[in-house]
Amino acid sequence: MELSDALRTTGAVREFTDEPVADQTVYDILETARFAPSGGNRQGWRTIVVKDPQVRLALRDLYLNGWDEYLALGKAGLVPWAPITDREAEQVALREAGTLPRGDFAERLHEVPVMIAVLADLRALAAVDRDFDRYTLVGGASIYPFVWSVLLAAREHGLAGVPTTMLTRSEPQAREVLGVPDTHAVAGLLILGHPVRRPKRLRRAEVEDFTTLDRFDGPEFTA
Ligand SMILES: Cc1cc2nc3c(=O)[nH]c(=O)nc-3n(C[C@H](O)[C@H](O)[C@H](O)COP(=O)(O)O)c2cc1C
Repeated sequence: MELSDALRTTGAVREFTDEPVADQTVYDILETARFAPSGGNRQGWRTIVVKDPQVRLALRDLYLNGWDEYLALGKAGLVPWAPITDREAEQVALREAGTLPRGDFAERLHEVPVMIAVLADLRALAAVDRDFDRYTLVGGASIYPFVWSVLLAAREHGLAGVPTTMLTRSEPQAREVLGVPDTHAVAGLLILGHPVRRPKRLRRAEVEDFTTLDRFDGPEFTA
């Protein structure tokens, strides 16, 4: 497959066939994804392949906490947990958390073919914006390219999946379930499997919508 085709068509997949995924395949995917970039090449990712049904169920329950909030915030027209947002409107919206239909993927998260918890070693992140007053962003950039590489590498094996972050809302509990020390943050749960179907055309903004020349308020950058 052409690299550009892979980049343009690797969408989120949340429905999987019953076909299991061999450990060898999961290993091979991680073996390729490990070449992802990170600040200072510190490779602060740490992964846990979660198979134990009890652990999976516990993580599903924790995921649902965040998911219920996400649905309620979205229904209120908010961007869930945006660093700049109307916090009062958030509080009002959250009163509805737990009342909205969750969908199959979240309800049955414990049944996915492959569940990989992704952690970030906080001692290994070159978080250059660490000391700013604004929301800090850069640390994650040393972890999520790896996550994306897992999703791209999975395609070589006919697999697809979705990166998820709802679990981070319940990070202290998730740490306990997985035995994670407080040197590590919970970056997400990566889900993989054999897709029932693949998205064909992904909806994304045009280059002109997010690129300008020379300045933020500069003219659109075009070819
Ligand atoms: C950082 C990040 C966090 C995400 N968290 C979740 C999540 O918790 N649950 C989920 O179902 N999808 C999650 N997604 C998947 C996005 O919803 C998906 O990538 C986006 O809607 C685009 O979907 P598409 O590629 O099918 O167009 C996440 C994606 C990213 C990049």
